[in-house]
Amino acid sequence: MQSNVRPENMERISTKALAEAFIAQQIADIRRQVGDKKVLLALSGGVDSSVVAALLIKAVGKQLVCVHVNHGLMRKGESEQVIEVFRNQLDANLIYIDATDRFLDLLEGVSDPEAKRKIIGGEFIKVFDEEARKLEGISFLAQGTIYPDILESHGVKAHHNVGGLPEDMHFELVEPIKLLFKDEVRVVGSALGLPDSMVYRQPFPGPGLGVRCTGAITRDRLHTLRESDAILREEFDRAGLTDKVWQFFTVVPDFRSTGVRNGKRTFDWPVIIRAVNTVDAMTATVPEIEWPVLKRITDRILAEVPGAGRVLYDLSPKAPATIEWE
Ligand code: XMP
Repeated sequence: MQSNVRPENMERISTKALAEAFIAQQIADIRRQVGDKKVLLALSGGVDSSVVAALLIKAVGKQLVCVHVNHGLMRKGESEQVIEVFRNQLDANLIYIDATDRFLDLLEGVSDPEAKRKIIGGEFIKVFDEEARKLEGISFLAQGTIYPDILESHGVKAHHNVGGLPEDMHFELVEPIKLLFKDEVRVVGSALGLPDSMVYRQPFPGPGLGVRCTGAITRDRLHTLRESDAILREEFDRAGLTDKVWQFFTVVPDFRSTGVRNGKRTFDWPVIIRAVNTVDAMTATVPEIEWPVLKRITDRILAEVPGAGRVLYDLSPKAPATIEWE
């Protein structure tokens, strides 16, 4: 098995040629490790698991079984993109599970942020475990562990939903990108032909939109959140901000405020825009967004998103505020 220590002389993968050499080496290593056995992978659609999936598809094709669990807290279009790229374009063996109702039913009435995170993480493992048990002859579990995971948390992909499988499930691990830094994973992802929207996807918390629909999640407020977030991403893209701002999203809190539409009183939710720049997510600053961009986003959200009554821009740096709202 590959060591967990990055050799001092390992060149930083910064060019297509270096990425291609890495890919060729990994394909050979994976084939040697896996032989003709089957490999299971929880594919979230984030850059790490997507790159691992693409590498394994190249190396062992249909011996890889990808499981994508839609917990109902994905951003707009994300699960669809996973299906389009992996099933339709790369012809992967992909099991898609829409577990939206399971998650949202369990989360009903739960307002404590930690309790919400626990439910989402725990249920994710349960759903994944149920699927894994239905499959025959799986010998390996692939994981998108990257080098910072090893440095920061002793090799456990702690911030991922799949933090640990039940103890009676024993798989040998396949971790082809575990010595790479994030920027290298992206270069490899591009060389593998993954779309930019996947390769340069901004960080997205494992509990997904669940931590941005504050308090007890309701389906209608989640809809307001997902639609407003999609507009924000579209408009940041159009304004050329996607590469310049580290993370941006909307938040919909669990209180309403008054408004007026067509001469009638309304009582809708505020939509909060959160955008930050940071190096390591330990501290963060708020970028100055051009007024016309903010105005356009505001106008669109108020015109197009059901349940949105106001739009606000969060000016709070980290610290004292965190990046997420809960
Ligand atoms: P905070 O809110 O702590 O966020 O300033 C720092 C970074 O971590 C992400 N984040 C999470 N990621 N599971 C994750 O996988 C989580 O529960 C979680 N909470 C926050 C956040 O999006 C930001 O990039």
